[in-house]
Order: sequence, then C-alpha cells, then structure tokens
Amino acid sequence: MNSFEGKRILALIRDGDYAHAGEEEAIERAFRSIPKDPRQWLLDVGCGRGGSGDYLLRNGWGRVEGIDRDAESIEYARATYPDIGLHVCDVLDVPRTVARTYDVIYMLNAFYAFDRQHDALAGLRKVAKRGAQLVIFDYTVGAKAGDTPNPMMPHAIRLSEIEAMLRDAGWQPGNIEDLNAEYARWYAEFVERIQLKRADIEKIGGAEWYNFVFSMYSGLHGVIAGGGIGGAIVHARAD
Ligand SMILES: C[S@@+](CC[C@H](N)C(=O)[O-])C[C@H]1O[C@@H](n2cnc3c(N)ncnc32)[C@H](O)[C@@H]1O
Repeated sequence: MNSFEGKRILALIRDGDYAHAGEEEAIERAFRSIPKDPRQWLLDVGCGRGGSGDYLLRNGWGRVEGIDRDAESIEYARATYPDIGLHVCDVLDVPRTVARTYDVIYMLNAFYAFDRQHDALAGLRKVAKRGAQLVIFDYTVGAKAGDTPNPMMPHAIRLSEIEAMLRDAGWQPGNIEDLNAEYARWYAEFVERIQLKRADIEKIGGAEWYNFVFSMYSGLHGVIAGGGIGGAIVHARAD
C-alpha cells in the first residue's frame, strides 16, 4: 500500500491525505505532549501525501517540512500543500538533503517500512536540534506474538529493543504509549469503511484493487484483534 496508487486509495477510504491508522485522532494523540509553537520546525519523515503535515501546520504546532522517497506522493503534496517544504529522498539521505535542523521529528506509520531502522534514527539525530523531540507512531510486535514479528509487518517495533536502539543512535528514550486497543478499534472501523466505499475504490482500481484492499485489511484487523500486531507511540529526546 506504499505505492502512489495504494496511498491514493487509502486517502479515499480515510477521507483525507492520510496513510496511517486513526487519521486525525491519531495525530492529536501522538502530539498531545508536544507544545504548539508556530516558530518551531517539524520534520515529517515518510510524509506520504502531506495531509498530516498540513494538519499540524494548520493547528499551530509549527512550520513543517516533509521527506518521502516516493516522488509521486511528494509531487502531489507540493501541489496540494504549498506551505510545506518537501523533499524526495530516502530516510537515510536526510542529513545530506535538508538544509536545517528541527525541533520535532516525527513518523506516522513510516518507521515500520524502514529496513535500516538504526541507521535511520542515527541520521535523523544529525538534523535534530538540541532538546528536539522524536515521535514514532507505529505498529509493534503484538503482546501475544512473543518477540517474533508477524510476516505482514516484519519491521514492526520490538518494544524489547527500541530503547537500546534509540540510545545507540544518540536519542534519549522517553515514554512509550500503548495503543493496542486503539489500533484494534481503528482497523475494525477501517474495514467497515472499505466496504462502504467499495464503488469509489472500484472506480480507481477496479474489482481487483477492492478485493486486495478488503482482504488485506480484514486480515490485518484479525491479526491486530488477536494480539499478533499492536500499536504504540514511542517518544525520545535529543540531549
Ligand atoms: C504507510 S505510509 C504513511 C505516510 C504518512 N506518514 C501518512 O501518515 O499519511 C509510509 C510512507 O513511508 C514512505 N517510506 C517508506 N520507506 C521509506 C524510506 N526508506 N525513506 C523515505 N520514505 C519511506 C513511503 O513512501 C510512504 O509514503
């Protein structure tokens, strides 16, 4: 679903340019401990179509830049949200690409997609101001999965390892907020919405895309409801 077409369909189902669980409720939850300050700079890592950056900008959290390796999504975001500074790049190339440092660096369902998570965190530390906040909103290896990630989400956050990874990459780990119950509710609602939007999804991608999206998210909801995959917000600080 990380393709341009996939994110377009997710945006349609979610009624906004979001490709993360819980849409605006999730953004509010992830940012409830981050003070609003129009002077501060935020970096949205894996920003996709730009809807979350626009939400944070419009609601007073600060000025926003975003990076994503998907050029089509960035092209869409540039045309739709001209007040956000956007870059096409892989997360590993952030220090070579952006021209400033940031007060808040965040990822909304993007970290799980990175193969080299430690290197990504170390690179992001280089563009963090002293005292900057890091917010990782993402899937976790679920409470009932032991330490073995589900094959649907091979790089889901391992709660037993994330603090050491953050420390090693130069971040001071902070609170971890459990979102298991919220993820189960968000995905139940999401599967219902897919069914309600069937005709619109078929207009974009035909019956094949509808069947793919419905079976994939029904399966994901089943795994989340059964405790195989969970969700969390991981906070850290650049000391
Ligand atoms: C599930 S989408 C979430 C998009 C956005 N954060 C949102 O909430 O709508 C994951 C995003 O991460 C991006 N991504 C995946 N791997 C990446 C990488 N190595 N470097 C930069 N972006 C990446 C994908 O292109 C995609 O836009």
